[in-house]
Amino acid sequence: MGHPVKVFAPASVANVAVGYDILGFALEQPGDDILVREGSKPGLVISEIKGGKGKLPLDVMKNTAGYAAHRLMEHLGETDAPIEMVIHKKMPFGSGMGSSAASAVGGVYAVNEYLKTGLTKNEILRFAVEGEEIADGAFHADNVAPSLLGGMVLIRDNPSLDFKKIHLPQGLYVAMIHPHIKILTKDSRDILNDQVPLDLVIRQSGNLAAFIAALYTSDIDLLGRCLQDVIIEPQRSRLIPHFRHIKEMAMGLGALGFSISGAGPAMFALCSNSLIAENIVLEVERFLTDEQIGNSCFVSKINNEGAIKY
Ligand code: HSE
Repeated sequence: MGHPVKVFAPASVANVAVGYDILGFALEQPGDDILVREGSKPGLVISEIKGGKGKLPLDVMKNTAGYAAHRLMEHLGETDAPIEMVIHKKMPFGSGMGSSAASAVGGVYAVNEYLKTGLTKNEILRFAVEGEEIADGAFHADNVAPSLLGGMVLIRDNPSLDFKKIHLPQGLYVAMIHPHIKILTKDSRDILNDQVPLDLVIRQSGNLAAFIAALYTSDIDLLGRCLQDVIIEPQRSRLIPHFRHIKEMAMGLGALGFSISGAGPAMFALCSNSLIAENIVLEVERFLTDEQIGNSCFVSKINNEGAIKY
């Protein structure tokens, strides 16, 4: 068997206001570390989960990292390979920053590297999405694809995983706001109305198309006009205390756009430079602390590499 392999899989921001279930980008931090090495008996075993407050299952079939890796091993006909996995959760779950996706990505990527399969990241994407699916019951790659591949990823079609990594202008920064309340993705999905009025579909389509065009042409003014979610944010924002006020603060401080990160409660502000992002973090941190809401707020660039071995 090969040498031990350690990988890092980053957090991500899904939906990005205008692309519910079909758009996401990777962050530099936080993320999960996953180590795999030779096990003492046939098959994949999760021997330890550090972090995660003891709430994540060691059972391979119930753990997003374990299940994603298992699906790869099944595909290879290698389910008996003796592999031990150690998961170091370095990010909270139920945060809206793609925690279960980062674990799924880390699990399958680590085992793929360990077994030296020669499969590319694109070829293992499906197994990572299947891993995340056991957490929220839905097959969507808007967290998994950016965590694995890096950058901003648009998924044209989730079932067939037809995706495209989108060109990014230089100099974009993200202010991440994470109030320490927990929202489970499944709950946040269950409240959504599955009927959408046609006029809102038209507006959201315009915003999504313009957002992609703005990224390709580095048109910052256009970026600032199109990051408006008229379908999902109005339904989910009531789950997040002071959402409207925090959004007004961020936009007043010069954000290009502001919305819920994934299923929440984390929020993101896309900014044209680091100074604006830092100001937003400082002001919102102060506000949430005054309101006695525990929080972690930070600035990140968009991570263009995704999961890495180190
Ligand atoms: N697109 C997903 C959602 C991301 O908003 O529910 C979280 O898994």
